[in-house]
Amino acid sequence: MLQKRSWAEPFRIKMVESVRMTSPEERLRAMEEAGYNTFLLRSRDVYIDLLTDSGTSAMSDRQWAAMMLGDEAYAGSESFYRMEEAVQRRYGYKHVIPTHQGRGAEHIISKLLIRPGDVVPGNMYFTTTRLHQELAGARFVDVIIGEAHDPASLHPFKGDVDLAKLEQVLVENPGKVPYVSVAATVNMAGGQPISMANMRAVRELTSRHGVRVILDATRIAENAFFIQEREAGYEGRPIAEIVLEMCNLTDGCTMSAKKDPLANIGGFLALNDRELTELAQNLLVIYEGLHTYGGMSGRDMEAVAVGIDESLQDDHIRARVGQVRYLGEKMLGWGIPLVQPIGGHGIFLDAKAFLPHVPQAQYPAQALAAALYLDSGIRSMERGVVSAGRDPETGLDRMPRLELVRLTIPRRVYTQAHMDVTAETALAVFEGREQIRGLRMTYEPKHLRFFQARFEPV
Ligand code: F0G
Repeated sequence: MLQKRSWAEPFRIKMVESVRMTSPEERLRAMEEAGYNTFLLRSRDVYIDLLTDSGTSAMSDRQWAAMMLGDEAYAGSESFYRMEEAVQRRYGYKHVIPTHQGRGAEHIISKLLIRPGDVVPGNMYFTTTRLHQELAGARFVDVIIGEAHDPASLHPFKGDVDLAKLEQVLVENPGKVPYVSVAATVNMAGGQPISMANMRAVRELTSRHGVRVILDATRIAENAFFIQEREAGYEGRPIAEIVLEMCNLTDGCTMSAKKDPLANIGGFLALNDRELTELAQNLLVIYEGLHTYGGMSGRDMEAVAVGIDESLQDDHIRARVGQVRYLGEKMLGWGIPLVQPIGGHGIFLDAKAFLPHVPQAQYPAQALAAALYLDSGIRSMERGVVSAGRDPETGLDRMPRLELVRLTIPRRVYTQAHMDVTAETALAVFEGREQIRGLRMTYEPKHLRFFQARFEPV
């Protein structure tokens, strides 16, 4: 008798793209040329690409069909109105400002709301989000719960805001907090969700202080899945309803449509305030494009409009998070150290536990990402001291407690067999971990150094 029935993806594959397996010598050469930075590898040298889930999703037949309807008018494109309607219906905000991708929206909202000397609290930083806040003159303050910084904590909502910490920031900085920056899910914590109860409490606290809440909605469908699974009162509630309820607790959102909304490029800023929207539209024409395209082509906006609807289907999101979990559970079964609970968009290896002999000053997560590639051509990403960058005030490296390697799963792209190969790679590298040496940085760019920095083995 079968004890358990398996689930499968709610789609079948209509088009395939070949990938190339390389030899160990080819991979060593490629890694040296890339300065031991996986961002600098050429994609042709990568076998399974788990660098990011950003812009790497497989689009559906419906998205491709919609792209043929793209209205490429400079002004007043029909495609914009279709995307605007989808955003209003699904996320509930009144006004939609299209941008070329998520950081375009972060740039506009930061410039609009932040004055030099301001303080922006948030549930852990994200690289581009914090940088735009800092460039606008703010200091970012992390107010996420302590459990988020502990890779082994099994807290079900590690994305929650520590309300006491947030209240302290609000009380100590009257008139200097333009908004609270809340992400769902929290990428740098390992794709960890924030609960609805916590979001409601953040809303109540900020209302009392007259402070806005701006949501980073990039992976909100994945966040809603965890709420449906774990939070009392949400069992059996449709993902779409949970997403709408969460957005209703905020004043606006920034969105990278390259993640949850299943598009290869695109994003938007959405707001309820009419006056603020007009100011944002005015900044938009300087930095992105006219307010009815904002850096996207008409066909891009069509893909986003359809992708938004698909991203909120319950069977889609269950299979998406289910695949990530399949990979993580396989590794956990072999004793490979990773962030728990397993998050929504990828597996985050705990490089400090993986390579205890490599000091953090020698970039253990960067070294581990290089080792995974050298073993079998799997591309991952450092999320540790390199990503954290330098403190703008002291100029010293920020030493985050989390030193992670992210294996990010693109949506609807890879099969269970790819997940098996990935887990086996992690095991092979784990078994040979004592051979892995740290790195030294040979080139450091000024901003977001993880994208372009170069290294060599020590
Ligand atoms: N917010 C979050 C939580 C993100 O993960 C990203 C991008 C952005 C904002 C910025 O959006 O790339 O469209 O400008 N994350 C990518 C990643 C780069 O790989 O995690 P963008």
